[in-house]
Amino acid sequence: MSVSTPTDTACGAATIAVARSLADLREWVAGRRAAGMRIGLVPTMGALHEGHLSLVELAAVDDHAVVMSIFVNPTQFGPSEDFDAYPRDEAHDFALAQASGVGCVFAPPAEVMYPDGFSTTVSVSGPSRGFEGAARPSHFDGVATVVAKLLLAVRPHRAVFGAKDAQQLAVIRRLVLDLHLDDLDLIEAPTIREDDGLAMSSRNRYLTEDDRRAARGLSRGLFAAMALADRGETSSVALIAAARHEMESEPRCEIEYVALVDAESFQPIAQLTSRSARLCTAARVGPARLIDNVPLRATAH
Ligand code: PAJ
Repeated sequence: MSVSTPTDTACGAATIAVARSLADLREWVAGRRAAGMRIGLVPTMGALHEGHLSLVELAAVDDHAVVMSIFVNPTQFGPSEDFDAYPRDEAHDFALAQASGVGCVFAPPAEVMYPDGFSTTVSVSGPSRGFEGAARPSHFDGVATVVAKLLLAVRPHRAVFGAKDAQQLAVIRRLVLDLHLDDLDLIEAPTIREDDGLAMSSRNRYLTEDDRRAARGLSRGLFAAMALADRGETSSVALIAAARHEMESEPRCEIEYVALVDAESFQPIAQLTSRSARLCTAARVGPARLIDNVPLRATAH
């Protein structure tokens, strides 16, 4: 395991600490705590875009010192998934992180997170079931394990996750409750989109121009259902049909699922109520598997 002192790397005008080991990370966090600061955590896998950077803004609210982890977590990728191809660009990520107000980037090598003999898996049942959990067996075990490790290593006052990965967020909410980490403020960040509606994602880099056009079908479908819900429609059948109708107008968009679920339990619901719900979809477009969702709730009419 390589242990080095946090390096203050010059990135533009200011500097950013880069921790490669848990000792470095803890030292930086302890220093900020000793100076009376609170800590905000933003876990990422890098290939940063504006969606990630919007999370930093929320983590930094009220002068929190922000740690961003950048770690392409091998345990959340299936054997036939894109772990090797996943975009990695440390220098660019560090520069973006620094410019957005991150104080410390935690970018450990895999053997720091998973040393020889590593044997513990955090498995959240409930909201992990179905949808992404069904399409990507063991994905949420990998996510829950690495997020639990990060939360325990940093013990932040707040941690920010994107609504873009709605099922992941539901899994992490459950994990935080079940492991009694609930002295933490878990912040849900709204999805940041391109001008044409496509949800920003590190995986959008896989799309060709044609794929990119077809990928707009996902958000168009979700927005069509959202408009219908705004007009008072509450039936899942009607909302899903409206979304599918729009998505199917893009033949390159191969829909895997469109589902209306309770935002917390991630179980399908038949009807919108006053509880918070999500209309979620996953689709293959060219080489990429994309997910997206919108929040829905019954409106008073
Ligand atoms: P990653 O895909 O890099 O995403 C990091 C965080 O950014 C997640 O909380 C995700 O929901 C959020 N995010 C991604 N795209 C977004 C967008 N367009 N708008 C707003 N937020 C967005 O999710 C992961 O990494 C990993 O599973 C991780 C939680 C880091 C565990 O390895």
